[in-house]
Amino acid sequence: MKDKVIPNSTYPKIIIGDAREELEKLPEGCIDTVVTSPPYWQQREYGDSNQIGQESSPKDYISNMLEVTKQLHHVLDDDGSFFLNIGDKYVEKDLQMVPSRLIYEMKEQGWALRNKIVWYKTNHMPTSIKDRFTNTWEPIFFLVKDDKNHYLAPRYNFFLDRVRIPHQTDKNSIPSPKDVLSDEELEELPNEFTDRETLPYKIEKEIYDQLPERLKTKGKTEYSGKFEGTSEINRGQSPGARMSVKGLYYSRQRKHDPNEEKVIKYLRKCRDNSKYSTSDIDDELGYSHTAGHWFRLDEGGRSLPSPEDWKRLKELLEFDDTFDKIMTETHYVLQGVRKHPKGKNPGDMWEISTASFNDAHFAVFPKELPRKAIKATCPKDGIVLDPFAGAGTTGKVAQELGRRSIMVELNEEYREIMKKRFREEENQKTLSEL
Ligand SMILES: C[S@@+](CC[C@H](N)C(=O)[O-])C[C@H]1O[C@@H](n2cnc3c(N)ncnc32)[C@H](O)[C@@H]1O
Repeated sequence: MKDKVIPNSTYPKIIIGDAREELEKLPEGCIDTVVTSPPYWQQREYGDSNQIGQESSPKDYISNMLEVTKQLHHVLDDDGSFFLNIGDKYVEKDLQMVPSRLIYEMKEQGWALRNKIVWYKTNHMPTSIKDRFTNTWEPIFFLVKDDKNHYLAPRYNFFLDRVRIPHQTDKNSIPSPKDVLSDEELEELPNEFTDRETLPYKIEKEIYDQLPERLKTKGKTEYSGKFEGTSEINRGQSPGARMSVKGLYYSRQRKHDPNEEKVIKYLRKCRDNSKYSTSDIDDELGYSHTAGHWFRLDEGGRSLPSPEDWKRLKELLEFDDTFDKIMTETHYVLQGVRKHPKGKNPGDMWEISTASFNDAHFAVFPKELPRKAIKATCPKDGIVLDPFAGAGTTGKVAQELGRRSIMVELNEEYREIMKKRFREEENQKTLSEL
């Protein structure tokens, strides 16, 4: 019986009624993404005794909203997401912090807040306000289910690749020296850097030594323990890269990529033929529990000695120079935060101009807002819900994106407005086509 409310095509299902009662009729966990903007507190009269928003205090408003969010928690799938756009209100020149107070209570209900997104209204209007700054943004809270009994992080769908945005500069380019260095530092650069267009990817020690400090490896030991892997660009792999100034520096690495297993087998043979045990080697080199890794064959536990340790080990175990070149030759490789080839994370400030819509008596969503939310979190065969649907922008966007959706709205008048908008759509898909 309950399953009858689940739409079987991308034409949005319209339900007229009070969200608090209608959500109860939906099956548990049937929704993948909720995108909504409820009436803000004391903002607009919608002319219905069951409307939310006209309560006399923020406290009463929050308690009504919590009834809705409790239902939403129930109907949302464990992998689901909830995007809540909600505005604030001044009372006698005092901002009431209504959204924050609601979110605070929602955490008790079992929600985890993943982002407080700033919706910056690029077309904000001039105002007559003279004693404070004009409000130019609203928050959009991105929430997921947080099972408090679970020691793991919340699990939910997040399809970042679908919402990545282009990098500001050419995606494959390595930054130019002038992007990261001051004028004085640029003056000091060695000749090899003269074209100044891009930082060289690999350099030899003589050049490294002439570099400004800013581009040099930070940390206790110079050697990062890495050697060139299979990919040409290994920038951005190490946490150290992110800690360095502007995320760029040169790190000393092995020039060659040794066959670990071969080297370790060789080292084991040399150790077994010597008078030293593994712990003797640690003692001789002034380490504890380090040498053991150089003799382990398992991938999880093995590691190769640094070029310096290799030389000391060679003296101690008196082995020949078969692997010397491969184990000790180093150069310096540019490290930094690598740009993702598919673009960058769009971030938590969404610059979107407000939408106008003649048929509705309230602010409707700009389509870009639910679009981003749905694309990032709703699987292709998923279901979107807006419990305060208004003119149904969420449903319209869901339909455009080929997602099924359910629109709950208190006011009967909006049924026709929604139907008019939805009927215009031609890209309707049925369940079997999803
Ligand atoms: C700000 S509007 C939503 C606009 C919508 N985001 C759009 O783009 O068209 C809020 C809507 O919530 C409705 N509403 C108020 N109280 C409600 C309730 N208890 N249950 C369901 N809808 C309610 C109002 O009638 C109004 O249409």
